[in-house]
Parts: sequence; C-alpha cells; structure tokens
Amino acid sequence: MQKYMQAAETIRSRTALVPEIAIVLGSGLGGFAERVENAVSVEYGDIPGFPRSTVPGHHGRFLIGCVEGQSVIVLDGRVHYYEGSDISDVVLPVRTAACLGARTLILTNAAGGIRADMKAGDFMLIADQISSFVPSPLRGPNDDGIGPRFPDMSAAYDPVLRAVIRKAAAREGIFLREGVYCQLPGPQYETPAEIRMLRTLGADAVGMSTACECIAARHMGLRVAGISCISNLAAGISAAPLSHAEVQETAARVGRDFERLLCAVVRAL
Ligand code: HPA
Repeated sequence: MQKYMQAAETIRSRTALVPEIAIVLGSGLGGFAERVENAVSVEYGDIPGFPRSTVPGHHGRFLIGCVEGQSVIVLDGRVHYYEGSDISDVVLPVRTAACLGARTLILTNAAGGIRADMKAGDFMLIADQISSFVPSPLRGPNDDGIGPRFPDMSAAYDPVLRAVIRKAAAREGIFLREGVYCQLPGPQYETPAEIRMLRTLGADAVGMSTACECIAARHMGLRVAGISCISNLAAGISAAPLSHAEVQETAARVGRDFERLLCAVVRAL
C-alpha cells in the first residue's frame, strides 16, 4: 500500500470526521491552528514512513476538526525539500489529506517579495506558479489510481476559488495583492542576481515550498488556492540581510489578519 493510503488509514482510526477542506500553514502562520475546534491532533512523526518537520515555526502535525462549521484538516507545519526527504515524501501530507476526502486545498506560505511595490506584511493571492530547480513530486511510476501521468496545470490555482478569496479579503478589509509564486529548493536565500533572474522570468514572490504541493494536489484533482504572506523583501531589493527571524517576526505581526482572512475564506466556501 502507498504511504499516503496507510497514513490516511492511521488518521481514520483516530477520527470519524471527513474533512472537505485542507489548509497548509506556512512559516510562522501556525496561529490558525488554535481556530480549529474539537481538534484531533496526529503528529507527522507518529505516522510510519512520514518525515518530520525540522524547521522552527513548523509544528509538524495534522489537526482534524471544525472551522466556521466546516470540517477541515489543517497541516500545521510542512516538510521542505531542503530538509532532505525525497520530493514524494515532501508532498505526503497533502496526498494524505486528499486520501481522507479533502477536495479543496488552501496553501499558505511566507515568501520574499520581488515586485518593487511590495512591502513586508503584504498578502499575495497566488495566481500561478513557477517550479524552478525543484524535481516534480510526480517523478517515477504514476499511481493511476490517484491521477493521470500528465496532469494539466493550465489553471493550477482555481479561478473560482481565487474570486472567493478576493471577495473574502475585501469584506474583511484586508488588502490582497495577486501574483506569481516561484519555488526554489533553498535552504539558502537567493542572491540579488537570482532575484533579478526570477523577476525576468515573471515571478512576483519567492519561497521554498508550495509549488510541489500544488502539483501533487492538482494531480489528484483537488482545487487549489494559495496565499503568500510577504515576510520580507527579496534579496537585493532592500539593503537588509535576510533571516528566518525576520520571516517569523513578520508572520507573527500580521498573523491575526492572516487568520481572519483564512476564517473568512473557509466561511465562504
Ligand atoms: N526567499 C525564499 N524563501 C523565503 C523568503 C525569501 O526571501 N522569505 C520567506 N521564505
């Protein structure tokens, strides 16, 4: 049996809830976990074959419960490719959520802002993505039972979901940019020359996650949305050196607004 099927079995043995919506919480955005009512918690480390999350600001657990009256599975902390796992293991939590029944996936992350008009603390709705120098999570034999060999990625981020999120943000009075997210492998932050390259390629924000999860989810037919918290200006755009501490500080500063936005989105789904 595939690892994600096994993981879904493990979680099913702990809760009868069938989550419709899966939400991945990015760096420093774990505060949303407290919004999950009657949560059943399953640590990634307690599931056979699962990688552990080793990054400060990432808990590394599933929370299955209710938000705004909807059943959700929250992936509180993620595993990143740079932590050393195979890319297929990096997307295990997302595939497990899909196996449990989730049909909608909301990806969140902290990202560096590339566009000149961005500032730390902005939110960006992901319109499209570039997966750069990161292997595809679909590499290797295809599991025809979960998705096709060659999935279409022409509307990777669902246009209807995006409209729902735009409206929810407007209702909450939260300013939302929209742009293209680029995943690089990391863990080093980019050089200014790399950021100039990414800008030329059409990227508006850069991070070390998300695109591979979107690919795995689209492969399984989920509708996907993504929201970046611009935690810092990308390398070379501001004179300040980049640090994970800054990423976490910004995420903590705007975390309440981010939670409010996510709740409003879940309410609207
Ligand atoms: N670059 C890559 N990943 C990131 C950044 C960045 O500037 N900020 C948060 N995650």
